[in-house]
Amino acid sequence: MQSAPVTKYRPFPPVDLPQRQWPSRVHTHAPLWCSVDLRDGNQALAQPMSVEEKLEYFDLLVKIGFKEIEVGFPSASQIEFDFCRRLIEENRIPDGVAIQILCQCREELITRSLEALRGAKSVIFHLYNSTSPSQRKHVFNATREDIKRIAVQGTTWVKQHAAPLVAAGTRVRFQYSPESFTSTELEFALEICEAVTDVWQPTVADKIILNLPATVEYATPNVHADQIEWMCTHLSRRERTLISLHTHNDRGTGIAATELALLAGADRVEGTLFGNGERTGNLDIVTVALNLYTHGIHPGLDFSDINHIRDVYERLTRLEVHPRQPYVGELVFTAFSGSHQDAIKKSWAVQKPDQPWDVIYIPVDPADLGRSYKAIIRINSQSGKGGVAYVLENEFGYSLPKLMHKEIGKIINDYADTKGTELTPQEIHDVFHREYLERISPVALHHFKTTERDSIVTCDAEISIDKRVHTLTASGNGPIDAFVRALAATSLPKINVLSYSEHSLGQGAEARAVSYIQIKTDRGHTLYGAGIDTNIELASIKAIVSALNRALKK
Ligand code: KIV
Ligand code: ZN
Repeated sequence: MQSAPVTKYRPFPPVDLPQRQWPSRVHTHAPLWCSVDLRDGNQALAQPMSVEEKLEYFDLLVKIGFKEIEVGFPSASQIEFDFCRRLIEENRIPDGVAIQILCQCREELITRSLEALRGAKSVIFHLYNSTSPSQRKHVFNATREDIKRIAVQGTTWVKQHAAPLVAAGTRVRFQYSPESFTSTELEFALEICEAVTDVWQPTVADKIILNLPATVEYATPNVHADQIEWMCTHLSRRERTLISLHTHNDRGTGIAATELALLAGADRVEGTLFGNGERTGNLDIVTVALNLYTHGIHPGLDFSDINHIRDVYERLTRLEVHPRQPYVGELVFTAFSGSHQDAIKKSWAVQKPDQPWDVIYIPVDPADLGRSYKAIIRINSQSGKGGVAYVLENEFGYSLPKLMHKEIGKIINDYADTKGTELTPQEIHDVFHREYLERISPVALHHFKTTERDSIVTCDAEISIDKRVHTLTASGNGPIDAFVRALAATSLPKINVLSYSEHSLGQGAEARAVSYIQIKTDRGHTLYGAGIDTNIELASIKAIVSALNRALKK
């Protein structure tokens, strides 16, 4: 990097728009969406999609609900031409869906593109040329007038050569992009858009689409919004125009730029699934759509099985969605931090299905996207005790007493520390099982029976301590009390029962009872034991044995 002062780069000039309206507006409705996955996205793939793959991708876009889909640049390659033909000839374009094709302002390319569109019901002819000073200077060596003439001539050719298509019953709409719009002088962008509109002569029913691309993102989103508001307020035939956004993501703010530009008056958004596209990508339509959804605006696109969409996308593009990608990333509904887990658990427990969503740290209900609640908490050595209890309860049905959370939390954290990776719910379950439920030595319970007379319970028990069998009997005010008294006759540490809780595990004939018992030994250890049995009394006796064995290990 250059050392300060940085003279190699310049600030982006702001737009003079003192009466700007967009900062105080809010989103009220979804824009029109146009997918450019099959053109802008596809051309940016190391290995572009085959025709078969594009057909599958097209079907996916239709299923999501896109009504406008740019299907390629048919005059630029045979594959793109063939793809367009197959869509039309195999009747794959549902009613209500328009295909869009991209073309440069050259007559032979325009006629070839129109050939590709023959027989379609509804099409958008997308014409573009570059307009920015750098493009004019370095690439085209052309003046503003030259550039405007190219656009006007191109539009004239489209209008003229599309006439037979229109006569044959195809609805032909027209879109013009001053490529690199955001780097173009606003007055010149306006001038060229007006000139093109003069030629096309749009109507209110058949508006012209003026697509204003941030071909390369150079400015902050507020400047982009100013540029769009400036255009919206300066165009002479605004009611006959759809203003379309086409952001790229070079500064990582393509989504923000699009959202602010919608406030600034734009009607339509072009982008791709998960932001595939040249360099840092095109706008990620999924995020913008779901951002609207989480503000209570239905986007008109269906992402209720977002994992499936991601799987198809990854297979066809050979790209991977980042695990942190909003809404769809593998880890976005996963909390590693203990305090987050705790807040999620508490707020989720009181979330009512018919109330506005208010689960802390989870801005959207994963179920709305076909994602699971279950994957939300994973445990590593940094996780809190609440997370472990959450997993054991939600995944396996163990409702541990609150006081036990800390104890099991530490055991699991120590295990995760040793292992050095996060733990799966099954691993957490297995550690819990080994630590509490498989504690059958050095004390083992062989037999336990009670009789009750006049509210006094007498137990007969057979246990072994280090394989030596002991037959015990004692009475108390309940089975637990009787057993604790019976144990007092052995060499085992004397224990006090501090707390007891139990619940059923499973339902119906299969149901078992699980007991949690906290004891304090005369050696000063306070700890829990747990036991499971179809007999509730035996579950609690096993829990005492579990606690004793754990104490003896200390
Ligand atoms: O990024 C861009 O400017 C484009 C145009 C062709 C619309 O993709
Ligand atoms: Zn683009």
